This record gives sequence, structure tokens and C-alpha cells, in this order.
Amino acid sequence: MLRFLTAGESHGPCLLAIVEGLPAGLEIDVEAINRDLARRQGGYGRGGRMQIERDRVEILSGVIPLAGSGPHPCRTTGAPVALRIENRDWANWRDRWVAGDLPRLSVPRPGHADYAGMVKYGLDDARAVLERASARETTARVAVGALVKQLLAVFGVTVGSYVVEIGGVVAAIPDLPLSELWARAEASDVRCPDEEAAARMREAIDAARQVGDSLGGVFVVAATGVPVGLGSYVHWDRRLDARLAAAVMSIPAIKGVEIGPAFENARRPGTQVHDEFERVSEAASQQISKSANRQIGKSANRQIPGVTRTSNRAGGIEGGMTNGMPIVVRAAMKPIPTTLAPLRSVDLATGEPATTQYQRSDVCAVPAASIVGEAMVAWVLADALVEKRGGDSLEEMVRCPTSS
Ligand SMILES: Cc1cc2nc3c(=O)[nH]c(=O)nc-3n(C[C@H](O)[C@H](O)[C@H](O)COP(=O)(O)O)c2cc1C
Repeated sequence: MLRFLTAGESHGPCLLAIVEGLPAGLEIDVEAINRDLARRQGGYGRGGRMQIERDRVEILSGVIPLAGSGPHPCRTTGAPVALRIENRDWANWRDRWVAGDLPRLSVPRPGHADYAGMVKYGLDDARAVLERASARETTARVAVGALVKQLLAVFGVTVGSYVVEIGGVVAAIPDLPLSELWARAEASDVRCPDEEAAARMREAIDAARQVGDSLGGVFVVAATGVPVGLGSYVHWDRRLDARLAAAVMSIPAIKGVEIGPAFENARRPGTQVHDEFERVSEAASQQISKSANRQIGKSANRQIPGVTRTSNRAGGIEGGMTNGMPIVVRAAMKPIPTTLAPLRSVDLATGEPATTQYQRSDVCAVPAASIVGEAMVAWVLADALVEKRGGDSLEEMVRCPTSS
């Protein structure tokens, strides 16, 4: 079993993560983790904080250095891997932090953890709540996700994402292989593969910023090359769709998750929804494999050559198990709750009506959230893979006789 914990506050010295259960012998490309950290920092609509931070990971334990230079400076030992990412903003907060003189916040902000957190923990100041509830914590998750993506890569599994909707602007996603959609997303500052929609998304973000408002949206995380049979139907908490939904829903501001086009499927009759099997020749199967991994197109079943599906409306999961098709998870993000335009609240110190005080904030963080989504999907898949293939070392995992 894989597990991870994170620690750290938004304006504290650093963020930490401890990952336990990784097999020994996995070579780690530290720069690949830094690249994902930079991807999370980007995106049109981010606030001032991202100008300050230059997130880079330091691996503190669980690895031994490898001789020579190259992309893999270290290899896992099987011991817990500790990751640290410095908060550069700490330098601006240190003195007040150490003096216990942080700005107080007694007016809970709607849409934030402030009110429930204050009541739950018996606090008269939401500062202690927001420091940990802040999505700055997702930096640590992205580092963890980038680490386990490297384990998934050994087994041919790739995870990527793109944005399909921001502030009501809906993209027309072309029927292209996922790898092509991902490449287009990387080239877009709103991570949207539809350029025309991307321009309108930027306009919507600018318009929201001008009136002191904020926006949410929808992104898709997909995984290709996933073997058949991760997860299980035998018990509720082993179903992979449930595990994916919980992991993605755990990202701050994510309020809806669907596997495949689930809500659209719900409006159609069964004959138009369920992904029929098709027998194809060995050669055709290989050809489909090569051009495979379309979101909703044909794709060869990875495990049984000669069998394919005519569509992927199930989003790669049937009966709580991966079925060899790309996994497709869509997530809905609510608008950022901090808005420059004040919202009505109550000052809990005085009991008097009050309005929210603006704290530095993103206007839209859907592109960044999609990178966090990748990390959480990668985590669930890596966990399920370790569960299925077992092994204390990578070599054992690769050799695993019971799995294909
Ligand atoms: C990548 C990312 C960045 C975020 N940035 C902000 C932000 O700058 N300002 C803000 O108010 N909320 C931001 N949020 C959302 C809040 O953290 C979140 O809405 C809040 O903690 C309440 O949690 P909940 O929405 O899950 O109920 C961000 C979320 C993510 C995933």
C-alpha cells in the first residue's frame, strides 16, 4: 500500500510530504518534479503569490544518490521519501510569524474553510484555519504526483490534463489522440486545446478581474496505457472509480467529479452509452494501439489483442476496475471564493455585520487545479498498481508473475 502525508502552512517556511511504500530501485528525475511544480504555478488568472514563488523540490530521505550526472540523480531505497518545497514568501512573513503578530481575521469569508474551521477548532481568528486550508498545500501533492508518475511511466502509464470550461466558456474539444490534446494544453496558458475558446476564456478572466470577481471551470484528467484490472468490484472501498472520485474531490474547490461523460450518459438510453466490444485482426489491433488513446474513440484493449471497444463512454472503468481503455476523469471547480468585490459576512469578534477583506488571490485557478488533478489521479493509479503487482523492489514489481 502506498500512502502520503503533507504538512506545512501557506505562509510558513515550507511544505513537506512523506511518501511511504514506493518500491526500491526507482530512479528519480528531480527536474521532472520541478517541471510539474512549475506547471502548477502557471496559468492565466493566477494572483501575486505565484510571482514570488519559484517552487523547487528537495528530496530529504528515502533515496540514494547515483554516480554520474544525468536526469536521474537518485534511486529509491524502499524507505519513506521525504520531500520539501520552500515557501519564498516566508521571508516576507517570518518576523510577524515568529512574533505571533500575523494579521487577524475575525470575519469569515464565504466559500472558505474560515467559519466551520473556527467553530470546529474553537478559534477566534481564521488565520490558523486559512494557513492550512489554503490551496498552497497542493504544491506538496503535485510533488508527490510527479514522483509517482515516474513509477507509472515504468509500466507505460501516462497521465495528462486539459481544461474544457472556464467561467461558462465551453471549449469544442477536437477528436484527437489524448497525447495531442495534452500537447495543445501545454502550449496554452489556460491549458485549453481549443484556441478559439482559450481566447474567450482569457477575456472572461480579464472581465472578472476588472469587476473584482472570480471564475471556476471544468478540467479533464486522463490516463493512457493503464492495464486491465486495477481496483476491484468485490468491495465498495476497492472500486477504482470511487477512489479516483474521492482523490480528485479532495482538491480544494473541486465540487463535482465524473468518470467519462457520466452526466451526459445519464440522459441517454443504454444502447447509446455502453461501449460495445469489437473483434479486430491482430494487425488492426496493433494499428489501433498505435493511434490509440483517443478520449472517446476506438482504442485497443491493452490486455487482449484482437479485442477493442467502439467507444469509451465508461471513461476506462467498469465494475470499479480499469478496463484497458484510457481513464477519463472530469472535475468541476467552483469560482475562487476570495473576491475583490466584498461579500457579506459577520465579524465573529463583535457579532456585527461586516464585509470580507480582500486577501491576495487568484481570479481563476482552473489550469493550476488540472495539474493537481493529474497528481491525484496518478496517486490513485500508482497505489492500485502497487497493490496489484506488489513487490519490495521495482524489479519484483516488473517481474510480477500474476499480472500481465
Ligand atoms: C490550485 C488552486 C489554487 C487556488 N487558489 C485560490 C486563491 O488564490 N484564493 C482563494 O480564495 N481560493 C483559492 N483556491 C480555492 C480554495 O483553496 C478553496 O475554495 C477553499 O480552501 C475552500 O475549500 P472548498 O472550496 O474545497 O470548500 C484554490 C484552489 C486550487 C486547487
